[in-house]
Amino acid sequence: MSDQNKKFLRVLTGKSETIPPVWLMRQAGRYLPEYRELRARAGGFLNMVYNPDHACEITMQPLRRFGFDAAILFSDILVVPHALGQSLTFEAGEGPRLDPLRTRDDLDRLAFDPGVLAPIYETIRLLRAQMAREGFFDTALIGFAGAPWTVATYMVEGGGSKDMIHVKSWAYGDPAGFALLIDKIVQVTAEYLCSQIGAGAEAVQIFDSWAGALDEQGYERWVIEPAKAILAILRRKYPAVPVIGFPRGSGSLYRSYAAKAGVSALGLDQHLPASDAAVLQKTMPVQGNLDPARLLAGGRALDEGVDAVMRTLGGGPLVFNLGHGVIKETPPAHVEQLLLRVRNFSA
Ligand code: CP3
Repeated sequence: MSDQNKKFLRVLTGKSETIPPVWLMRQAGRYLPEYRELRARAGGFLNMVYNPDHACEITMQPLRRFGFDAAILFSDILVVPHALGQSLTFEAGEGPRLDPLRTRDDLDRLAFDPGVLAPIYETIRLLRAQMAREGFFDTALIGFAGAPWTVATYMVEGGGSKDMIHVKSWAYGDPAGFALLIDKIVQVTAEYLCSQIGAGAEAVQIFDSWAGALDEQGYERWVIEPAKAILAILRRKYPAVPVIGFPRGSGSLYRSYAAKAGVSALGLDQHLPASDAAVLQKTMPVQGNLDPARLLAGGRALDEGVDAVMRTLGGGPLVFNLGHGVIKETPPAHVEQLLLRVRNFSA
């Protein structure tokens, strides 16, 4: 089986590797000049996401430069609200803008159009062929989606938000109504991830970037329950495909997520102390934990950060990654430095 050549997939089934597989969240993106060049040519972010040739090319860019152990599909978590009929734009330098969804009437107007997502499955098919053509036989392809809570924060707030007043007061104040929204996202997301796997994604990651915004009860209801629901659907169809859960900012609630959500591996942000990360790693493979700002800083700050992760987690099943995405000001040479440091590390 060719899958056994893929270190990333071996680790996700619980094996430890002397040199861990490495990929980086946001490994394709604005810190790469070739990305910025294509973005200018394509005329905007969504034009790249929905154009399979462009999206395939952008996914390939960091592989060619750095030789990561996994590629992540180039897309965005907000294609799901878009496919549900919400308007979506990305203004350069401003982040996403959606028509805020605030009432049950707004909810009733959502209608899923699966055709919106079709180009993304085509990107995955193109990628599997292109990766083989360019000789990346040991590189795995990761699909992804946003977790329902995080996607709902953007849908309700209408974009990024610091305090999340609207979405949190809906979730806490009208849980029955908010559940209708979350359930819709659960259904579409499960179908979306199944279709990504059907098209050739070999593992999937669920990004819950704002999991840390909820209190303990909210976390159980809006982070763990929806993750369980998605996993139940995925496992029925694809019991063997690894699923990485990334409930960013979970702190001591990571333990509860690891025990209950049903994921195969856990994505860790940089705020989780090493000792807690090591405890979690005894229950499942882990990924992440390096502060993206150390990659931005480079030099000793980066070497020390890499060494700390390797010393704490390098002995068990580890996917080397950052605790969040690559910061756009990061010099690409620092990524080279990271890879050398990880691959030459000796305990
Ligand atoms: O990791 C990868 O390389 C794969 C592609 C990917 C993107 N977004 C491309 C992107 C992935 C996995 C995402 C996930 C995503 N998108 C998340 C979860 C992870 C996280 O970062 O917390 C979230 C919350 C989003 C929503 C989103 N998309 C925001 C808030 C923004 C604006 C902020 C920013 O960094 O620009 C985006 C835009 C976006 N998504 C860009 C990229 C490369 C930048 C677009 C540009 O070129 O201007």
